[in-house]
Amino acid sequence: MSPGPGRGAAITGWGSALPPRVVTNQDVTTLFDTSDEWIVERSGIHRRHHASGPFVAEADQPPAHPGDGVGSTATLAIEAGREALAQAGVTGADVGLLVLCTTSPDQAVPATSSAVSAALGIAGGAMDLNAACAGFTYGLVTAASLVASGIDRVLLVGAETLTRVTNFADRSNAFLFGDGAGAVVLEAVPGPGCLLGWDLGVDGTLVALLYADHGGPGMAMRGQEVFRRAVRVTVDSAELSLQRAKVGVDEVALFVPHQANSRIMDAVADRLGLPRERIASVIHETGNTSSASIPLALVDAARAGRLADGDLVLLAGFGAGMTWASAVWRWGTQ
Ligand code: UT7
Repeated sequence: MSPGPGRGAAITGWGSALPPRVVTNQDVTTLFDTSDEWIVERSGIHRRHHASGPFVAEADQPPAHPGDGVGSTATLAIEAGREALAQAGVTGADVGLLVLCTTSPDQAVPATSSAVSAALGIAGGAMDLNAACAGFTYGLVTAASLVASGIDRVLLVGAETLTRVTNFADRSNAFLFGDGAGAVVLEAVPGPGCLLGWDLGVDGTLVALLYADHGGPGMAMRGQEVFRRAVRVTVDSAELSLQRAKVGVDEVALFVPHQANSRIMDAVADRLGLPRERIASVIHETGNTSSASIPLALVDAARAGRLADGDLVLLAGFGAGMTWASAVWRWGTQ
């Protein structure tokens, strides 16, 4: 197919990966003064999976040369990507571009997508995309647009090892973060494709609300301020995407928000007028996995049979930067 309005993108395969070490809230109470009840009530999180940090055995920590062993962002991305390719019935040789969304790359140089590309045998280009927790939705819009522009197949992955940038001495946020990866294959289809409307944004004056410096102690966050702004920007962005897609909120079959806090997810759904039963949620199991959170929730919903061909899916993320992104996507290949 040639580029232009006669071609769009559809999702044809999906996969996910979580590191084996499950860290319960009870485990977290050994780090600082907190409780299972407090964490569940304030965040909805019961467990998360860790690839590194105090709960992971020395032998299983991320390797010096990432991509070679367990525990790295590349390793999780490879596992999720491999599963997505298999489900789509293709191999890396059929992929024209790998987009790896991550805010916890394995190295400063080069991009983590290089190691992932080599492991999966990807024939085309590869790049990292860092838009923090809005990353996967930024990636979905980018990938779908590039498919419309002429790339036949894109592997889009959200993968994180946030435990490598978590400050485990900071009880105000260390319990939130987890590691994992989710992936989808986007393929060219005739017609307009499945991306019906989208919105991407950033307010770079708000960097100080949430950041982790090179060589610093780890993540620093002004939790309440992020919470308030997250609800506001997610609602505004989702409404813009729905409007651009010419879709009413009642037509949305599944809402896949960034999994940062179940109270944020509920507040956004309530303000949009979406019944909470339509929220895709894995936060109780994964914690906040940044770029990986939306694909992990999407893949979980697909596996659970919550998505039928033609269903409209609303994705919405926000995060450090502060970035935000939303998209209305039609599930299936038509
Ligand atoms: O994905 C990127 C975006 N990130 C987010 O969206 C996170 C947004 N923020 C949040 O989700 C919430 O702000 C948190 C879950 C991080 C915190 O919940 P909160 O309801 O905003 O709690 P808070 O920071 O207002 O703290 C309430 C109280 C404080 O005590 P006082 O001052 O009321 O006596 C804290 O000292 O809870 C205390 N506290 C804790 N207590 C037990 C703070 N951390 C803990 C803890 N265990 N781990």
